[in-house]
Amino acid sequence: MKPEVPSLLADPPASNPLFNDRKLKMGTFCSNLKHGCAISSIEGTLEATWPATVALARLADRMEYEALVPVGRWRGFGGTTDFNGAGFECYSWAAGIAGTNESSAIFATSHVPTVHPVMAAKQATTIDHISGGRFVLNVVTGWNESEFRLFGIDVPDHDRRYDMAVEWVEIIRRLWTEHELFDYEGEFYRIGGGQLLPKPIQSPRPPFMNAGGSERGRHFAAKYCDVAFIVVVNHDMDDLKAQIATYKDLARREYGREVAVWTHTYIVQGDTEKDARDFYDHYVHEHGDWEAATNLTEGLGINAQTVPPEALDFLREHFIAGWAGWPVIGTREQIVDTYLDLADTGIDGVLTSWARYEEGMEEFAVETYPLMVEAGLR
Ligand SMILES: Cc1cc2nc3c(=O)[nH]c(=O)nc-3n(C[C@H](O)[C@H](O)[C@H](O)COP(=O)(O)O)c2cc1C
Repeated sequence: MKPEVPSLLADPPASNPLFNDRKLKMGTFCSNLKHGCAISSIEGTLEATWPATVALARLADRMEYEALVPVGRWRGFGGTTDFNGAGFECYSWAAGIAGTNESSAIFATSHVPTVHPVMAAKQATTIDHISGGRFVLNVVTGWNESEFRLFGIDVPDHDRRYDMAVEWVEIIRRLWTEHELFDYEGEFYRIGGGQLLPKPIQSPRPPFMNAGGSERGRHFAAKYCDVAFIVVVNHDMDDLKAQIATYKDLARREYGREVAVWTHTYIVQGDTEKDARDFYDHYVHEHGDWEAATNLTEGLGINAQTVPPEALDFLREHFIAGWAGWPVIGTREQIVDTYLDLADTGIDGVLTSWARYEEGMEEFAVETYPLMVEAGLR
């Protein structure tokens, strides 16, 4: 089957580390927002300052991380922490970060309804040039009602948001790849004399990522994107393995394409397993901001279909612990063992986060990362 939109995995741009052949690729998540991934009021969580976000990009460089994935957020989630309320806008963050890190793919996460595709294509191209061909565009359709209100727009129906995203990525792809002027007449966008120069460095184009969890979202990613991120609704390795295989199979069978599948993990490391579990209790159970977490999961429950409603309660604790990632808890040896198991599921890459992001990532870089290399994961 000839795909309508060829996947980059068939012949990836050499400049983009996202497609290297490491067994388990790694990235940071949400390093552009206050509190990073932990909905907790403990001291030492990430601040929304430029030196702090740059420090994480440099630590990523030290471990040759493949990805730096920011979160597109316009309003916080209230509670005592106003989780993720302060933070840096993704495209301008990516442009600045590209100058501070040499080895990772630099992502910008973009909401479809709030950024015109001509603007998105042009900004993305600029960042691709700044980064020497390491840019990735993470397409999100949006679900947080207060963010739509901020822009004075109603939340469109769930599947309509994906209809809009289909036009959005098509226009961006044509601007990136076509050399003749073109007109475009869609339901959502009308483009007169579409043209973009210079072209991105990556040829034929930079990658698209999507992290929609709904049926519609998975088809969107399988058909149009190169990287799909999944939220894991339970923490069973066999289920994860099946989820990844089903995703890859969907892309192959229905669209004749390959997609890379990534997920998010959060790390809680201790000298002993008990130390790690005690710290988990401290920042999640004693100091977790359950109000902000509830606002987040309720919002997701209303406007997104990322996870089934019955899983939201179970996941609330993991949202607090690390944006609903897969828990990686224990001694450094146990952490490496968990990543070995995760790599065996067929996952292509994992994002990583820590409650105390800078302190945790530094400790990981010094103490644990060498064991990851020794184990053949990197
Ligand atoms: C790894 C990951 C990153 C995401 N980043 C964002 C983000 O930055 N901003 C946002 O509004 N939604 C983000 N999302 C949410 C989804 O991409 C998607 O918009 C939402 O889940 C609604 O679509 P769905 O119903 O298909 O899941 C993210 C999800 C995942 C798993």
